[in-house]
Amino acid sequence: MALDMVTRLFCDPGDVVLAEGPSYVGALGSFAAYQAEVVHVAMDDDGLVPDNLRAALAECEKAGKRVKFLYTIPNFHNPAGVTLAVDRRAEILEICRQYDVLVLEDNPYGLLAFDGQTYPALRSMDPDNVVYLGSFSKTFASGLRVGWVLAPHAVREKLVLASESATLCPPTLNQLVVSKYLATHDWKGQIKTFRENYRERRDAMIGALEQYMPAGCSWTHPDGGFYVWLTVPEGVDAKAMLARAVTARVAYASGTGFYADGLGSRQMRLSYCYPTPERIREGVRRLAGVLESEMDLMRTFGSVTTRACPARRRRAPTRPDPTSPAGRRLQFSLAVPRSFGWPKVRPNALSPSSRADCPTNGTSRCAPAGACRSHCATRV
Ligand SMILES: Cc1ncc(COP(=O)(O)O)c(C=O)c1O
Repeated sequence: MALDMVTRLFCDPGDVVLAEGPSYVGALGSFAAYQAEVVHVAMDDDGLVPDNLRAALAECEKAGKRVKFLYTIPNFHNPAGVTLAVDRRAEILEICRQYDVLVLEDNPYGLLAFDGQTYPALRSMDPDNVVYLGSFSKTFASGLRVGWVLAPHAVREKLVLASESATLCPPTLNQLVVSKYLATHDWKGQIKTFRENYRERRDAMIGALEQYMPAGCSWTHPDGGFYVWLTVPEGVDAKAMLARAVTARVAYASGTGFYADGLGSRQMRLSYCYPTPERIREGVRRLAGVLESEMDLMRTFGSVTTRACPARRRRAPTRPDPTSPAGRRLQFSLAVPRSFGWPKVRPNALSPSSRADCPTNGTSRCAPAGACRSHCATRV
């Protein structure tokens, strides 16, 4: 919600948001919803590369594009699993200052370092130019939908107004639950337990990747958080392969969902936070098998995709027979989290101009509001 609010506050259609490449799919969805253009800044194993940031900003300036903010996940990145090196942090803030660009620091995983280390928040180093987003989703309960924002005073006031216009008030009962939990439970001890669990699962995943993955694959080594970012050999299309992986009963998030510009077809995000170490090892073993078959097919027939031939594409979709083995497999694949696509473009609800005309209905306003279910749809 805070991501949505900040984007709503700052972005008009066509404004640029800089974001690491890859970046969190939920954030990219918010940026798309407000018709902001995302310019990705490449990372390496130490996170965002300052020279790449400088180059992206210079290019935007040259092209006359208005950059509103840099969106960054400095610690245990989702999906890349990397952490921004401490000695890069001041430089990144300095570059943003130089170009007069706000920093939006998203840090839901910061307390989940496997060795207990914490990193200096960008916000602590430049409080006047950084909006910081925190969350209880990864350290307490995601279902409560409680997080927090630290923002420069002027931004905070506008955020409160935007939040009131959207929901009147975030759920008070849930905030009370969080407050009580922090006051009466050993939450630091609980985080320590989480760290140990996740470290064991990370180790299981990295060990299995080393054991099973074919040559030509590479992956990141997270020091905290939930995710490993896997790169598969040239020619393999990770998105196309997903259906075959699901048939082998293993799933991943394909990399293209984490880019706004179509990159990521050779990447996938593997999450180790939920399954047990045994299931992680088995999942990686299955994934490696699917990948091996894919590479075999590639060697025989060239690049493999799931794109249907035109005749097949025209065929009306049929419902699977849930009693047949194939039907059961398909049902399973439908139950896997939807592959990440962009939500429909929604207008900026604070921008009257974007709601003045309804191209769908050809009227000056869509009545009742939102009836066209696209241009005039309101956001709740
Ligand atoms: C980088 C990042 N930001 C934000 C969120 C969402 O956090 P919350 O549950 O507080 O909305 C996630 C959840 O996966 C995330 O990975």
